[in-house]
Amino acid sequence: MSEQIHANKIAIVTGACGGIGRATAERLRNDGATVVGLDINPDVVTNLTGERLSGAVCDISDDAALKTAVDKVIADHGGLDLIVANAGIFKSGEYIDAETDSWDLHLKINLTATQRFLKLLHPRTQEERQAAQHHHHRLAQLRRSGTRRFGLLRHQSRRDPTRPRGRSRAR
Ligand SMILES: NC(=O)c1ccc[n+]([C@@H]2O[C@H](COP(=O)([O-])OP(=O)(O)OC[C@H]3O[C@@H](n4cnc5c(N)ncnc54)[C@H](O)[C@@H]3O)[C@@H](O)[C@H]2O)c1
Repeated sequence: MSEQIHANKIAIVTGACGGIGRATAERLRNDGATVVGLDINPDVVTNLTGERLSGAVCDISDDAALKTAVDKVIADHGGLDLIVANAGIFKSGEYIDAETDSWDLHLKINLTATQRFLKLLHPRTQEERQAAQHHHHRLAQLRRSGTRRFGLLRHQSRRDPTRPRGRSRAR
C-alpha cells in the first residue's frame, strides 16, 4: 500500500480507458485521490470502477462535452485538485506525408484539446488564487488588529483605576 499522498484530492485523468491513462488513474486512486477518468472509448465506464474510481465517456476535443464533464466532476465531488491531460492519438510514421485530415485531427486532440482543458480550468484557479490572497490579507489584518487590541488592553490594565493600589504581588 503506497503512501496516501493525494488523500482528499479530486483528480481528472483524460484518456483513462487504458494504457498510461488508466495506470495513472489507478495510481492516483491508490495514493488517496478520488479519480474520474474521461475517455472517448465507452469501455472507460467498466474499466474504471471501485472505491474512489470511476469513468465517464467524453470526447475531449468537443469543448461542450468537456465542459459538461468537468462541471459534473466538480458538482459531484465538490472541487478539482489534479488534472492529467493524457488523452492523445499517435499514428506512427506519419509526419510530412500525413494526410491533412489526419494531421488536423492530431493537432485537435493532442494540442488544442489540452489547451481548452487548461483554459476551462484557468478562471477557477484564478478565483482560488484571489480567494487565497484575500484570506492571507484578512489574516494579516486580523493579526495586526489583534496586536493593536492586545497593546491597548495592556495599556488600559496598567491604568486600571479599580485595581487596588500599593499591594505587593507577594502576598
Ligand atoms: N506509449 C508511449 O510510448 C507514448 C509515447 C509518447 C507519448 N505518448 C502519449 O501518452 C498518452 C498515453 O499513451 P498510451 O500509450 O497510454 O496511449 P493509448 O492509445 O493506449 O491511450 C490513449 C487514450 O486516449 C483516448 N483518447 C483518444 N482520443 C480521445 C479523445 N478525443 N477524447 C478522449 N479520449 C481520447 C483513447 O481512447 C485511449 O484510451 C497519449 O497521448 C500518447 O500519445 C505515449
